[in-house]
Amino acid sequence: MHAKTTQPKDPNLYNGDVLNVHDPKANGKKMYIESYGCQMNFSDSEIVASILADAGYSTTNDLKHADLVLVNTCSIREKAEQTVRNRLEQFNSVKKSNPKLKVGVLGCMAERLKSKFLEEEKIVDLVAGPDAYKDLPSLVKEVEEGRDAVNVILSKEETYGDIRPVRLQSNGVTAFVSITRGCDNMCTFCVVPFTRGRERSRDPKSIIKEINDLAEKGYKEVTLLGQNVDSYLWYGGGPKKDFRKASDLQKKTAITFDKLLDMVAIEQPKMRFRFSTSNPQDMTSDVLYVMQKHKNICNYIHLPVQSGSDRVLEAMNRQHTRAEYIELIDHIRAILPDCGISQDMISGFPNETEEDHQDTLSLMDYVKYDFGFMFMYSERPGTPAAKKLEDNIPESVKKRRLQEVVAKQQQHGLYRTQQFVGKTVEVLIEKESKKSSEHWSGRNQQNTVVVFPKENFTVGDFVNVKIESCTSATLIGKAV
Ligand code: SAH
Ligand code: F3S
Repeated sequence: MHAKTTQPKDPNLYNGDVLNVHDPKANGKKMYIESYGCQMNFSDSEIVASILADAGYSTTNDLKHADLVLVNTCSIREKAEQTVRNRLEQFNSVKKSNPKLKVGVLGCMAERLKSKFLEEEKIVDLVAGPDAYKDLPSLVKEVEEGRDAVNVILSKEETYGDIRPVRLQSNGVTAFVSITRGCDNMCTFCVVPFTRGRERSRDPKSIIKEINDLAEKGYKEVTLLGQNVDSYLWYGGGPKKDFRKASDLQKKTAITFDKLLDMVAIEQPKMRFRFSTSNPQDMTSDVLYVMQKHKNICNYIHLPVQSGSDRVLEAMNRQHTRAEYIELIDHIRAILPDCGISQDMISGFPNETEEDHQDTLSLMDYVKYDFGFMFMYSERPGTPAAKKLEDNIPESVKKRRLQEVVAKQQQHGLYRTQQFVGKTVEVLIEKESKKSSEHWSGRNQQNTVVVFPKENFTVGDFVNVKIESCTSATLIGKAV
């Protein structure tokens, strides 16, 4: 699950107050929310906006109008935290000229640093972890009354299934719907299991309801979100770990991820569906066959691998080998020959040798990913890797290896986009192209950006586009 680390700046977006100014519940107060990190955070901010709307707060995109600033934060790498800290410092200085302004920190950094923000750093008024958002109205009230407020309790059940998210910064065409929260995988480098807690699945009825709601509002594409969507499991309530204790009937009628995909694809046949993220060890053939069966489930899988070396995969506690991953890739290509596949990679994990690094490059040569998200290893306090392994790859080596991985990915990206030249692809128009006001920008099934002349089309249209040229990340064509 990825998104850019700052709020998307989209020229098509309405840049002002976005919500319920005339809502009878509105109390005249306004909140400004900024999200960093993964798509789940952007999606969570929409849940927060909904919860606070019920407490009377409308949302503003203009900081000058805000009574409350909320920053939904990311802890995944040190750099992400540093970006947020700098931003909090800025808000803190705004507070000096506007002492009534309150600042709150949400999300993974809130969970990781807890009351440290209030007690040691004193740069925020409110701290709420990812499972505490329903408590925000009372936390905000405390802050309004002049007390600091904190709730970082993690839950085994909370899925916010009953909340109708307020779509923020939306293009009105694509939306995220979360289906699971938390993660039980314990990859040794990763802070997510600590900041987002145990994995839990959301009631499929509430997922379908949210999707139907979006369809009614004119949305055309939904991305189902979870740290590990393939392990989605609903069997009439209760956490996944208790599934062994479920009744026979519950077991037989349990809803797994392939079934959920089937359900949503049938429920809204005109909508496009995507999902993120898939974990290699949990991906099933059933999911691939459901993708094959439904044209409206996009042929695209984000399948992070992190490393191509068995030794490193094991040290990372990834639950598969290089050979098994390759087998899975072959299996995907056999069932879905034109499926887009993307990766996440980490360069410079503790003890990574030059040979391990070469294994990563050769795995990339095998798969030829359409695109990827590549990072230098960043040690996160409290993770198993931080406790057991020394962060012993020099920065310069990490950087050089990362550059080699990125260069390789660019090569493969170009190889993949070139395969589309001369072909016609279906594109959902999302917005105006960043580079030209005369072109639309959208994505094909494989999640590659496609740019083409506007003609008489409009945002939200599905258009068949014949691809004429490409860069390593973009297809350029003309509607046919
Ligand atoms: N399952 C999640 C993973 C979230 S983290 C998902 O839905 O995508 C996203 C990516 O960040 C990971 O796949 C990994 O490549 C990278 N990452 C996580 N922890 C990291 C760390 N400590 N240093 C560098 N990169 C990291
Ligand atoms: Fe992190 Fe691994 Fe889960 S990368 S989010 S622990 S699948």
